[in-house]
Amino acid sequence: MLLENLAYTEVEDYLKKKDIVLIPIGSVEQHSPYGLIGTDFIISEAVARAVGEAMTILVAPTIAYGVSPHHMAFKGTVSLNPNTMMGVISDIVQSFVAHGFKRILFVNGHGGNITPLKTAFKQLKAENIPGYFDVISWYDSNKVRKACKDAFRDKEGRHATPSEVSLTKFTRPAEFATKAVDQKTVAKPKYYWPLSGEEMRSVFPDGRMESAPWLATEEKGRLIMAKAVEALEKKIKEIIKLKIL
Ligand code: NI
Repeated sequence: MLLENLAYTEVEDYLKKKDIVLIPIGSVEQHSPYGLIGTDFIISEAVARAVGEAMTILVAPTIAYGVSPHHMAFKGTVSLNPNTMMGVISDIVQSFVAHGFKRILFVNGHGGNITPLKTAFKQLKAENIPGYFDVISWYDSNKVRKACKDAFRDKEGRHATPSEVSLTKFTRPAEFATKAVDQKTVAKPKYYWPLSGEEMRSVFPDGRMESAPWLATEEKGRLIMAKAVEALEKKIKEIIKLKIL
C-alpha cells in the first residue's frame, strides 16, 4: 500500500481505520566494488513494502539519502549533514502528524541515520508534538542477526556485508552482472570511530569493512529478507497495540 499511488481521498479512508505509516530510509553510499550504492535504501524499501503489503499498512516514499560523510572519499556517495537530516525528518513527521497519523515508523537501512533520527524525535517531543515516532533497522532483531551470522560467520563484517549484498542480489539480481566477484582477504584493522572520508579510505581501501561481500547469494538474501519481514511484522503488531497519549 504505497502512499505515492493513492489519492488523498484514499488517505482519508485509511485514516478512518489506521494511524500508522512506514517510511523507508537508507543511504546513497559506496558498498565496495561488490555492492550497489543504493544498498541501504533498496533493502529498507523492500522490507517496508513487503510488510506494508502483508499488513495493509501505508508505506511513504523512501528517503534514499542518509548521513554518510565517512564514505565521501568514494565516488558516488551523497551525504546529508546530520542537521539537514534532522530538519528533513522533523518536517516529514510533522506533515504526517498534521494529517492525523499517530504512529510514524522509519524503517532504516543505515547505521549513520540512527542518531540524527532519534535526536529529531527528541526535539519534536520537546516541542510537544503528539504521537509515537521510532526507527527500526531491518537488522535490529536477534533472529535477523542470527540469520546473517549463521550465513557468513566471521566474514559478515561491518560494511558492504555479504548479508546486505545478498539482500540486494535477491532484490535486483540483474545489477550484479557488472560487479566485482574476485575473492580477497578479510582484514580486521584497529581503528577509531567516527572517521572522515579520507581516514575511512586509508583504513578500508576498497570500501569493505571486515567483510566478504563476494560470498553473497540471492538465496541467502531471500532467507534473510524473510526473517527481516517477519521481525518487522512482529514489532509493528506491538506498536499498533500501544495507547497513544
Ligand atoms: Ni549498507
